[in-house]
Amino acid sequence: MMIEQALDFTGRRVLVTGAANGFGRAIAQSFHARGAQLVLADIEAEPLATLADELGAQACVFDQTDPRSIERLSEQAGSVDVLINNAGALVAKPLLETTEADIRLMLDTDLVGVLLLMQHFGRKMVAQRHGVIVSIGSQTAFCAGENRAVYAAAKAAVTQLTKAAAVEWGPHGVRVVCLAPGRSLTRMTQQTAAPGYQGDRGLARVPLGRWGSAQEVANMTLFLASEAASYVTGETLIADGGYVLG
Ligand SMILES: NC(=O)c1ccc[n+]([C@@H]2O[C@H](COP(=O)([O-])OP(=O)(O)OC[C@H]3O[C@@H](n4cnc5c(N)ncnc54)[C@H](O)[C@@H]3O)[C@@H](O)[C@H]2O)c1
Repeated sequence: MMIEQALDFTGRRVLVTGAANGFGRAIAQSFHARGAQLVLADIEAEPLATLADELGAQACVFDQTDPRSIERLSEQAGSVDVLINNAGALVAKPLLETTEADIRLMLDTDLVGVLLLMQHFGRKMVAQRHGVIVSIGSQTAFCAGENRAVYAAAKAAVTQLTKAAAVEWGPHGVRVVCLAPGRSLTRMTQQTAAPGYQGDRGLARVPLGRWGSAQEVANMTLFLASEAASYVTGETLIADGGYVLG
């Protein structure tokens, strides 16, 4: 299949979590531009409804830290061809200041919720004998940095889960991949990606000399979910301007 055709999502049902803001929003807009039929999910009802109206999408309000809410999302969304497991939470603090509530929030959102979504939609994809799951991991899974210990541990676990699910579901026609972006300016990083931020080793570590953009994340997500990546599974693609190189 030629690349242009491979990047076409006409008639494909795509679920994007965390779609109301940041990367999720750019991902939803990019899939829409390629003809996808979207199901958008987020905990924030208002911006979610506005975007869903704009894109002619189904909107599902859900809480990724609540297994029952994920179950309801699975029922509402039905079967999909693509799951973009994007919603996430970061409490950026030094490890010694990270509270038990912070730890639980990050593990519940960034690991347990991501895993439950993989299971719910993976089960349906295995039954229909096709599907792609793209989870949004992080560069922090690959190198230690300040104020990210628990978040990084959860994201590293997603990289490993991606490999395991790919091995189990590959024979059933399901690809499971992960995208590990570098830092980009979103609400999550409104301080740490702001110009002039000095709180960590930051931009000095990025060979390309700039942070990424939500559109770059959306482009790589689209590629991984598409037929252009039809022989890629279990892989985590690091898109970080070279940050993890040291
Ligand atoms: N921004 C970065 O630099 C960066 C870098 C690497 C990875 N990531 C990852 O990219 C993903 C998107 O992050 P972003 O930067 O767009 O952040 P963001 O804060 O702009 O967006 C996150 C979205 O997830 C939703 N969300 C949060 N908790 C939720 C919950 N419990 N249930 C349902 N929805 C929930 C939020 O409402 C929001 O719409 C996350 O998984 C994040 O960890 C971000």
